[in-house]
Amino acid sequence: PVEETLVLVKPDGVARNLTGEILRRIEAKGYQLVDIRLVEADLELLTEHYAEHQGKPFFEPLLEFMQSGPIVAIRIAGHRVIEGFRALAGTTDPTTAAPGTIRGDLGRDWGLKVQQNLVHGSDSPESAARELALWFK
Ligand code: CMP
Repeated sequence: PVEETLVLVKPDGVARNLTGEILRRIEAKGYQLVDIRLVEADLELLTEHYAEHQGKPFFEPLLEFMQSGPIVAIRIAGHRVIEGFRALAGTTDPTTAAPGTIRGDLGRDWGLKVQQNLVHGSDSPESAARELALWFK
């Protein structure tokens, strides 16, 4: 079955003008763009989006970082797109993410308390459904 997932180009990716490069990689992989919008996320949206991380030491810095500039929210579709996009993105820490991935090729540690890792991708069908409903009301 064709799945859908939520991709976010985080404020660091938008600020560094990497949105086009990230879209290029998604399209080159063969996934379909279904919807896209530029969002200035508020505290309420981000608190819901990151509910599972509440209480972790990086939670407050993460919400601050995610409010530091516009985010590009993208709905993409394809067979196994949820795991496929996570493979394209690479692992969480951009310093050690594999070269060839978005985070590995384009990201690094900039000294913040939060991982500025350019993109978010939903991690399961349940997360994808929940997050798509939040970002594309
Ligand atoms: P993401 O996986 O999209 O969602 C949770 C985010 O929290 C993650 O990207 C990073 O931006 C950030 N994050 C996760 N783990 C850590 C950590 N150990 N230290 C700082 N930031 C983190």
